[in-house]
Amino acid sequence: MDIIKWRDSYETGIAEMDNQHRQLIQLINQLYGIIKEKDGFESVDAILQEMANYAEHHLRDEEKLLEEHGFPGLADQQKSHRNYFMKMDELQEAMEKDGRDAAQEIYVFLRQWWINHIVLEDKEYGPYLRGKGLK
Ligand SMILES: [Fe+2]
Repeated sequence: MDIIKWRDSYETGIAEMDNQHRQLIQLINQLYGIIKEKDGFESVDAILQEMANYAEHHLRDEEKLLEEHGFPGLADQQKSHRNYFMKMDELQEAMEKDGRDAAQEIYVFLRQWWINHIVLEDKEYGPYLRGKGLK
């Protein structure tokens, strides 16, 4: 069972972004599963690598989309995304030293950051982009 269930309130109404957000939440669920099952540490590493790649891809796509459509909150989004990468770098470094305890901390951060970001920040571009005819 997934620890984080997708809710309608997470939808921005922009299909591509919503699909990518769902995928990110799915990866966080997988990370939780691995930590809980006490799988080998390599699987934590692998899922975090996948998460890092996918998050980078998603945040790049999102910024590109917002830029193309002249979203006024772009600079705030970029700032928020930069903070995310900085915090993740710190946590990844801690994980190289402390291992599993830090993995748990990464999970807590990812869960909190992504849900907050989607619900509070990303939802703001939904009405704007839909107003530009995007779906
Ligand atoms: Fe964003």
